[in-house]
Amino acid sequence: MKSCKVAVLVSGSGTNLQAIIDATEDGTLNGKVQVVISDREGVYALERAEKYHIDSFYIRKDSRKLLQVLAAYEVDFIVLAGYLSILDEDLIREYEGKIINIHPSLIPKYCGKGYYGIKVHEGVIAAKERETGVTVHYVDQGIDTGKIIRQERVPVMENDSAESLQKRVLKMEHKVLIEVLKGLMEEGCYESDH
Ligand code: GRF
Repeated sequence: MKSCKVAVLVSGSGTNLQAIIDATEDGTLNGKVQVVISDREGVYALERAEKYHIDSFYIRKDSRKLLQVLAAYEVDFIVLAGYLSILDEDLIREYEGKIINIHPSLIPKYCGKGYYGIKVHEGVIAAKERETGVTVHYVDQGIDTGKIIRQERVPVMENDSAESLQKRVLKMEHKVLIEVLKGLMEEGCYESDH
């Protein structure tokens, strides 16, 4: 039975983390979240991990510690789910092709420095876009610049605020993230050691 060991890196509420946990619990994903790592203390994502008895760590600006924890949990995949720190080059090299990020826009639009969280949707609304979307991509040395795995469009409604748009996009994020992870896990994980 193939089983994948996943690390999820977070910075905030952890709704993407929750989507992954739910999908591993209901068998959609052939894997398990081994560890959750946050670069911010006291965020709700850490409470979500605790509720499901998943080990979690607060690690900020300490690539060596991050690498140690990832190695200790023998992860196959790293998912950046609302994670706001930039990973060091050595870590990205170590996990080349095994780190994915989900971004709440149609990259290359509204991404890169300064475009995160609600700021992405504020930009879309200010530009009066008729549509936006989500992007799942591999993480490389840039910000939101890695090879795109999947994009899905989301309509912008006439009376949308940044908040109402964020809510609609977040729902699509959860859907697309799980679909992408499902595909990757069926392709890329080795026989589990148990
Ligand atoms: C959201 O803005 C989401 O679009 C992006 O990260 C932020 C927090 O997500 N991926 P989460 O609820 O912490 O997963």
